[in-house]
Amino acid sequence: MPLVPAPDMLAAARADGYALGYFESWDSYSLEAVLAAAEAENAPVIVGFGATMLADEWLDAGGIEFLGASGRALLEGCRIPASFLLNETHTLEQAVRGVAAGFNFVMIDSHRWPVPEARDAVAKLVAAAHPVGVAVEAEFGSLPDYHDGAVDDSHAYMTDPGAAAEFVAATGVDCLAVAVGNVHLLTAYESEIDLERLQAIQAAVDVPLAIHGGTGFPPASVAAAISLGVAKFNVGTRLKRGFLDAVLDRTRSWSGNESVHDLVGSHKQADFLAAGQSAITETVRSLLRLYGSSGRA
Ligand code: 13P
Repeated sequence: MPLVPAPDMLAAARADGYALGYFESWDSYSLEAVLAAAEAENAPVIVGFGATMLADEWLDAGGIEFLGASGRALLEGCRIPASFLLNETHTLEQAVRGVAAGFNFVMIDSHRWPVPEARDAVAKLVAAAHPVGVAVEAEFGSLPDYHDGAVDDSHAYMTDPGAAAEFVAATGVDCLAVAVGNVHLLTAYESEIDLERLQAIQAAVDVPLAIHGGTGFPPASVAAAISLGVAKFNVGTRLKRGFLDAVLDRTRSWSGNESVHDLVGSHKQADFLAAGQSAITETVRSLLRLYGSSGRA
């Protein structure tokens, strides 16, 4: 199935009262695992790669083109509606390269930039992306991060509904990520969501809303968030953590005698990385059910 434009998928989710998951991949194993989950659940899905944790040297030395081409190759035989996102690039130039590299959805990680700078860069990205059928997301408001056992909110601020509406009008983005209490990279507990703020944002902004920090987002607030305009949840940390735990667990059973060629990168039953892949698939399947996108393909 060819890639589906993200705005079409987000509009369908809004109309039918469910949300899409964007499950962040980092290589072919993780992307295949997400696709396997979506196919098993017969769910539309946003797949893709996140740039924010990757080294600029690698991204700028052909990494973006490698991610685009390898993702497109895996999406070639995909049987469910999918959109392909290059998430949170460090620069405008990287996102523009993503447009040329085969992604049909792009985003700059601009939430810590001064607003005028972010607005100009996002408007330029929209001008480069829309004429070739590529959609753009931006974040307005800035999420705290969780690391080393504590929340870092030094740069964080919640989304202001009026300012968000101005940002959307000035840039022409297709989807707006908002800060309403959600926290990036949070594994220790659940974030507390300000549903009143979300409601005010929905009333002011006419594009579908996205929630980043899906790992720590409280499952009990998912339905309320969807009813208040959220059409996309981003999940990252939980997938990588589950992958790593499963691979480490599998490596403990290594006697030291089996062929390393079977164990590393063989795509056979004995492949350590396949254990991580199965863990991702199970987690994504349960989240697709939580977001209500199962059975909607
Ligand atoms: P988590 O890693 O907290 O799930 O957030 C992922 C994300 O928002 C990617 O954009």
